[in-house]
Amino acid sequence: MKKIIFPAIIICTAFWNGYSQNTAMGEKIFKTTCSPCHHIGKGKLVGPDLSGVTYRRTEKWLGSFIRSSQTMIKNNDAAAVKLFNEFNKLVMPDQNLSDTQIKDILAYIKANSPAPAIKTQAPSAPKEKQTTNVAKSAPPPVIEWVHAEHQIKAIRSAEGIDPKSLNADIWKNAPAKKIPVAAQKVAYPNLHKATVDEITVKTVYRENQLAFLIEWNDSSKNTEVDADKFCDQLAVQLPVDVNDIPNYMMGNQGGKVHIVHWKAIWQEDCEKGFRDVLDLHPNMWVDVYPGLESYLDRSKRIYSQDIHAELIVETSAFGTMPGTYSKNPMSLIKRKVPVEEANAEGFGTLATQETQSASGWGEWREGKWRVCIIIPVNTGNIFKASFKDKTKVAFAVWDGGNQNIGGRKHYTQWADLFIEK
Ligand code: HEC
Repeated sequence: MKKIIFPAIIICTAFWNGYSQNTAMGEKIFKTTCSPCHHIGKGKLVGPDLSGVTYRRTEKWLGSFIRSSQTMIKNNDAAAVKLFNEFNKLVMPDQNLSDTQIKDILAYIKANSPAPAIKTQAPSAPKEKQTTNVAKSAPPPVIEWVHAEHQIKAIRSAEGIDPKSLNADIWKNAPAKKIPVAAQKVAYPNLHKATVDEITVKTVYRENQLAFLIEWNDSSKNTEVDADKFCDQLAVQLPVDVNDIPNYMMGNQGGKVHIVHWKAIWQEDCEKGFRDVLDLHPNMWVDVYPGLESYLDRSKRIYSQDIHAELIVETSAFGTMPGTYSKNPMSLIKRKVPVEEANAEGFGTLATQETQSASGWGEWREGKWRVCIIIPVNTGNIFKASFKDKTKVAFAVWDGGNQNIGGRKHYTQWADLFIEK
């Protein structure tokens, strides 16, 4: 008798001690893949709170929904359609996960949900109109989603890379990789229609520098920003910690991404010098910036078109041009690089980095942008990406002429990036 009871107890404890191996695996996947959109027990985020979902739905329904909610919606699964409408038709992206991975995630959700009132028996799931064998019988889902099957190879360069030399020989030797981009439809503000379908990427690695030359078609050059105008933009994203790849959509809590963001308006600032409201609206009346008056001879007043960075040293300028006075990289008057270096840990957390050491340059010609971005990597700075011979990279493109701004953009999932041996 004893012989049988003893192992039985071990099995029971292994099963019931809350955090089994599976739950821990599930937690890891949940935190990187699901947590940008779902809380468990803290309320609605982009998607519904998943607390107790394993008691509300059958495992089969959950498996099908997580793999491809859009397939279920197209097949008129009543519960899926209802949820989709409740969440303003936000598309939950298809998740390419194995049965085991889905089981692990569900175990983690269950371990973090309060048990239902009757503990002895899980209540049966609501009687949804189940579509049988969804995965096999359904036509392939027609959703715009880019899978991370792309591989980019970076060649090595012994010499420094000049961001302005877009026609340098080094770029001729780097292999070109075409990567499709999709309209961002997951988080608001979202983009309804993609106007860019792909980008062509070339990559060169040099000690502490990862350089990209990216090209895409854009029939209009948009370099101005006004109340109803937006400029063309491009961003490259790398995981900060290559051993813990965060979500490809701006990272996740505890999973930082390093972003370098090129903006056509800044490109124009670099080429043409400081432009002010008067350049956009020549007939508008702009008065003086009072904080600057006392700096020079009082007989001469300084108008906005005469502003130079050197003038913004008076503490009184803090009142009128606080950003410029405190040297905020967003408010520079003499802009030298058209890129901003930032970090994010999930939607809505984008923050400018204190140390700006990225560079870049862009050129629009005959319906095409060509933009070089050089990212400082492996520098020991904890806000910047580090890796050895491989990492991941993702991209975003904004078509200013089609009102792209913020989340209204085109994006890619992670692609694998390999550095030449
Ligand atoms: C980019 C946002 C996003 C991500 C990432 C995401 N979801 Fe969702 N999820 C949603 C939205 C939005 C809904 C609501 C249904 C809809 O709009 O289609 C949803 C619905 C669900 C539901 C149905 C909930 C219910 O009450 O029945 C489950 C289960 C679910 N998601 C699980 C997951 C899991 C597991 C992951 C990670 C593997 C994940 N989701 C990743 C956005 C997301």
